[in-house]
Amino acid sequence: MQLQIAKQKNLTTHVNGTNLAFAGVREYERTKHVHRLHPYLGKFIPQLVEVFLNEYFKKGDYILDPFMGSGTTLIEANMLGMHSAGVEISQFNCLIAETKTKQYNLDLAEREIKDILFKTREYSNWLVQGKRQLTFLDNSYKKLKTNSEYLNTWLSDKALQEILFYKNEIDKYENKDLLKIILSRATRSARLITHYDLARPKNPIREKYWCIKHRRYCQPIDEAMKFIYRYSWDTLRRIKEFDNLRTEAKIKVIQGDSRYLDFKDIKEYKGGKFDGIFTSPPYVGLIDYHDQHKYAYELFGYKDNSDKEIGPASNGRSISAKEAYKKGIINVFQNMNRFLKPKAKIFVVVNDRDNIYPEIAKKCNYKIKKVFHRPVLMRTERDNAKFSESIYYFERR
Ligand SMILES: C[S@@+](CC[C@H](N)C(=O)[O-])C[C@H]1O[C@@H](n2cnc3c(N)ncnc32)[C@H](O)[C@@H]1O
Repeated sequence: MQLQIAKQKNLTTHVNGTNLAFAGVREYERTKHVHRLHPYLGKFIPQLVEVFLNEYFKKGDYILDPFMGSGTTLIEANMLGMHSAGVEISQFNCLIAETKTKQYNLDLAEREIKDILFKTREYSNWLVQGKRQLTFLDNSYKKLKTNSEYLNTWLSDKALQEILFYKNEIDKYENKDLLKIILSRATRSARLITHYDLARPKNPIREKYWCIKHRRYCQPIDEAMKFIYRYSWDTLRRIKEFDNLRTEAKIKVIQGDSRYLDFKDIKEYKGGKFDGIFTSPPYVGLIDYHDQHKYAYELFGYKDNSDKEIGPASNGRSISAKEAYKKGIINVFQNMNRFLKPKAKIFVVVNDRDNIYPEIAKKCNYKIKKVFHRPVLMRTERDNAKFSESIYYFERR
């Protein structure tokens, strides 16, 4: 239907013969290797990035993503031999991107992932045996506590104990970030939520409930251990897979506000002159990029920078929210212009239902070369809403 509309309006829906709907691309391909190292609501389908980078850039080019999110652009650029840098305001999103893009000593990573896993399993066994009043008790183990109201509300006692134990062990290892990502993913899954609403749960579920996903009654989650297991092996497999595909091209993850960031402060990219941008900015009032990972912020105590997010969901879609959004996006591109080569190519993937971007282009001195359109097939969880996005192709004048 969306494609028919696009055809009627004579809109570009293909790049070099590839249909931008990517309808035939299976779930496992959309989430291949490190692209599913940790959930992140609002990320690119990697094939979209790949198609554009392939068509408009070449090996050795420098690609910038000022709204890096979980780092999809950086990973795809690297696989094509292009250098890249990404800027992102949220500390936790930077952790995801850093973990996905890092080059690991795989033997060490494997040893550490297994070591902390087995230690946590012992602790978990102790918890269960303690509960059953069995005689085995290790004096070094104790019940763990947190002041976080969120974690106490959203996790069962057993899950919380396992998570806190694992967390307290992390500092003993070299691959701290990788272990944090495993634990964060396990914490997300271990919350007292229904099986069908992982992204936006409303209340903790402590009783048996009717599960829309499985069409039967399901029990609330009472442990984190099974998720720690599952994501330990999964993470290992994914980083190994990407390690086989990656090139020597540079990748830089930068935590900062894209309105003000200066590349003169970034050692490897001093004064950075990028060949282009491939990015998807936040949309006005749609997704909260901090709150979706609240469990991780609570667990690791990261600084909350949501007041610096452009177009946050909490501001809604009022006229003043849209004006503030427009101003923020213009500030980002004007700032980034300082680090782009003349005639740099800028690709912006956006659901521009308010038609804001032509004005943004004008203010940033960009020529609109082309606008592509694609329906977005939402395949995550229960979110089947029809949605489409544009890909603006601008050229810096
Ligand atoms: C649509 S998401 C990008 C997703 C990304 N393409 C991916 O595949 O993961 C937009 C991102 O912009 C970030 N952001 C919002 N305001 C920002 C700012 N002022 N500076 C840098 N990043 C910002 C949000 O935190 C969010 O992660």
